[in-house]
Amino acid sequence: MSINQHLNWRYATKRYNGQTIPESSLNDILESIRLTPTSLGIQPFHVFVIENKELREQLKPALNNQPQSIEASHIVVFASWKSVTESKVDDYMALIAETRGVAVESLTGFRSMVLGYLSKQSPEEIQLWASKQTYIALGTAMVSAASQQIDATPMEGFSAEAVNSILELEKHDLHASVILALGYRDANIDPLASANKVRKPFHKLIDII
Ligand SMILES: Cc1cc2nc3c(=O)[nH]c(=O)nc-3n(C[C@H](O)[C@H](O)[C@H](O)COP(=O)(O)O)c2cc1C
Repeated sequence: MSINQHLNWRYATKRYNGQTIPESSLNDILESIRLTPTSLGIQPFHVFVIENKELREQLKPALNNQPQSIEASHIVVFASWKSVTESKVDDYMALIAETRGVAVESLTGFRSMVLGYLSKQSPEEIQLWASKQTYIALGTAMVSAASQQIDATPMEGFSAEAVNSILELEKHDLHASVILALGYRDANIDPLASANKVRKPFHKLIDII
């Protein structure tokens, strides 16, 4: 199937059948998150993959009691950085130096550019910028899942404060940005499984100028 056929196949699954997805598929989806490009390449987020059923029960009210919380195979929480410290930038410079086999000193100009770009932004702007990066990864993960016929639900319908508190994100300078449920649809009880996809016609959405 082409990518667009996979995108046509997928839908935001509301009811899952409780079946666990194979570890290899999960790893593929997570690898697609790791490979997702981000602004400056700094990957300003951390990803928590929640399998633990007790923790999922605890999270359910924070996820507005959406049934995916429990019925999905896995719940992926994208937690964005709340701030960018010099030490985080230095960790990134060290990673570039190690990966590309260059001296960290050769990155001084890039380091100043990164710090200069980020220091011009308010704490709110930094948080918004970091959160936007998680949405790029969310998109990649959804395409990866669909290409393997794994169902997924992007989720913004949750209390970030409650998720932050349950996963103790704030003490790691993180904030719950967006969530992705993964698993297999239960077409018998999910009315959305057979609903037509609602999208604007091409020319109402896109102008080629
Ligand atoms: C960022 C984002 C957040 C969403 N949050 C939820 C959610 O919390 N619960 C839910 O059931 N669907 C959620 N959706 C699903 C959308 O309603 C759905 O993607 C949209 O209606 C298009 O339908 P389709 O994905 O089934 O094609 C979300 C989608 C996106 C992209």
